[in-house]
Amino acid sequence: MATYTLPDLPYDYASLEPVISGEIIELHHDKHHAAYVKGANDTLDRLAEARDKDAWDSINGLEKNLAFHLSGHILHSIYWRNMTGDGGGEPLEKDGTGELADAIAESFGSFAKFKAQLSKASATTQGSGWGVLAFEPVSGRLVVEQVYDHQGNVGQGSVPLLVFDAWEHAFYLQYRNQKVDFVEAMWRVVNWQDVAARYTSARNNAAALTLAP
Ligand SMILES: [Fe+2]
Repeated sequence: MATYTLPDLPYDYASLEPVISGEIIELHHDKHHAAYVKGANDTLDRLAEARDKDAWDSINGLEKNLAFHLSGHILHSIYWRNMTGDGGGEPLEKDGTGELADAIAESFGSFAKFKAQLSKASATTQGSGWGVLAFEPVSGRLVVEQVYDHQGNVGQGSVPLLVFDAWEHAFYLQYRNQKVDFVEAMWRVVNWQDVAARYTSARNNAAALTLAP
């Protein structure tokens, strides 16, 4: 049995229109995300083979592939649930408790400053990458990370809460080279209830990462 499986989308392909076309969502989920799932499973199989044969010539490439495909699978799984056709606005109105809104204000100064930082981080990715709002468990702060590919430039232990896919496959069919416009539109489909639930879960599990033994 495969270790990783492609999750179903929580909505129809066209549910995020006009922000993201149904054609993009279908290709993105059914082809791109599916390829990361397959890649992660295939790489685990190849690592098992390497262990069986005690053949380690490809270990560097295999470990890199595992990080790439596994991280691609994880980020896309979060991405689909971070969005809803009924989304947008600000977390204070949408998350029910106000805890996420308070954490954003505390960590970034204000929602507007946070929005500016995540928008900039997403829109200025060089090559392929993501803009990510993450919970950093050592400090208890929220941070914005600019992730290279799916796995680079990440603080160890940080938990992704809200992810903006800035790869061309996420927007090019509809927005062409206007990545800034795509990122700006993304705010209209953010599912703040989902982000807030992830924040609560990350805080409750923060003890999993301790720097002391
Ligand atoms: Fe993607």
